[in-house]
Amino acid sequence: MFRIKTVVFLIVIGAVVLAACAPAAPAAPQQPASAQTFGAAKCAPNCTYKDMVMCFPQLGAESDWRTADTASFKSEATKDGFQLVFSDAQQKQENQISAIRACIQQGVSVIALPPVVEDGWDAVLTEAKNANIPVIVVDRSVSADPSMYVSHIGSDMELEGKRAAAEFNKLLPNGGAILEVSGTTGSGAAVGRAKGFREALNSNIKILDSQTGNFTRAEALPVVQAFLQKYKAGADFQGIFFHNDDMGIGGIEALKAAGVKPGDLKIVSVDGTRGGFQAMVDGWFQADVECNPLLGPQVAEMALKIMNGQSVDKNVLTNETVYYPDNAAQLLPTRQY
Ligand code: AHR
Repeated sequence: MFRIKTVVFLIVIGAVVLAACAPAAPAAPQQPASAQTFGAAKCAPNCTYKDMVMCFPQLGAESDWRTADTASFKSEATKDGFQLVFSDAQQKQENQISAIRACIQQGVSVIALPPVVEDGWDAVLTEAKNANIPVIVVDRSVSADPSMYVSHIGSDMELEGKRAAAEFNKLLPNGGAILEVSGTTGSGAAVGRAKGFREALNSNIKILDSQTGNFTRAEALPVVQAFLQKYKAGADFQGIFFHNDDMGIGGIEALKAAGVKPGDLKIVSVDGTRGGFQAMVDGWFQADVECNPLLGPQVAEMALKIMNGQSVDKNVLTNETVYYPDNAAQLLPTRQY
């Protein structure tokens, strides 16, 4: 009896030792951390642009930047030969959500979403995912979990804010006070630029006031008028940070009407549109931080990869720079937007 127990014990121990020493089962192939595949189409791996129906629920037509962005997608669709299902949400999230739902019903191949604001996308992104329709978040960001969409292609909005702050640090080396005209409340562009700006601004430069101009000329003009009623230009504040060129151009109208002259204030804007370049040539803007709207080609290329089941990077940031008045006149004729 004792011997049988001993033999059983030795067999169990032997089995445990053998299992521990055995080579591990091959691990599941790992994708690079930044890459993801999802939403391959039935035509994969041989899909072409002829197979692609891209839903593009554009957020609005609030700025020259946006007009250029829309044109970039439309011309890319014509060039490549894919179908673009375009809509203009007039800066309303509910319109974008309705447009996405219509695209899901239609069974599009891919959705390129430029989200007007960051929050509130979970439900419709889940609907797209359940329908196996890949979503590429374009331009601004969403706060939804990254597993809800395939990739984001756009600008580093925080970096843009930091770049704007670096310009004020140079323009006001002894400190001072500035005003901020911010973009659409809750938008990735406004949130990111405001955050980066505050992180990089020298502590001797105070942000006296900040109001939204909703990224439009029409809404920025009364914001600057109200600022000028409340604060004395030059004495109470020495500069203005505009979150985009259109708001800067609207603001200039208010400044001109109040008798402020180019150069009286330090003004930094974002976008690098032709209008922004003209404002530099005219002496109003001291710097313009680039935000590139020409995203159509990159998004189309990525969409085709996704349809073909290829992996794509999770976050693709646009390479951008800062423009200055010294060569603005020379560059203006070459600007594409
Ligand atoms: O999201 C990009 C921003 O939106 C641009 O800076 C602005 O011009 C547009 O309205």
